[in-house]
Amino acid sequence: MSEIRLTVNGAKRVVTVDDDTPLVWVLRDTLALTGTKFGCGMGVCGSCTILENGKAVRSCQIPAIEAKGRNFVTIEGLSRDASHPCQRAWIEEDVAQCGFCQPGMILTACGLLREHPDPSDQEIDAAMSDSVCRCGTYPRMRKAIRRAAAALRARKP
Ligand code: FES
Ligand code: FES
Repeated sequence: MSEIRLTVNGAKRVVTVDDDTPLVWVLRDTLALTGTKFGCGMGVCGSCTILENGKAVRSCQIPAIEAKGRNFVTIEGLSRDASHPCQRAWIEEDVAQCGFCQPGMILTACGLLREHPDPSDQEIDAAMSDSVCRCGTYPRMRKAIRRAAAALRARKP
């Protein structure tokens, strides 16, 4: 067990957990941030995706000890009221079906838009195809990402 200090959604947190506990369980079980979902546990489905400095990372692949001193954002921290352009676009395009994959998908989209503010369909498909949506919401996600990209670009001075 180790005492681990990390920042989550702008707040400094201290947790005492086994060193090799995957960060997804620290978020869900210790910090009660259950928006982050557990799927495969092997880094292949994307349901546990969170942001680190704007970049999408898979929290099932980060042992707690390696999360020490790092700064993460989960779906709960993206906005207080679902007003982030990605969340707005997801609602406006009615993307979610069962919803299980969607927090990870939204944060994956945020990571994509940070790298590519005006992504092509190919860039969108490449970024999203690594994450699994069993409900097949990929066409609606593509529309939502285009909508969010436009909103984010319009926000910039
Ligand atoms: S649970 Fe992390 S990638 Fe599947
Ligand atoms: S909305 Fe059901 S798995 Fe993606």
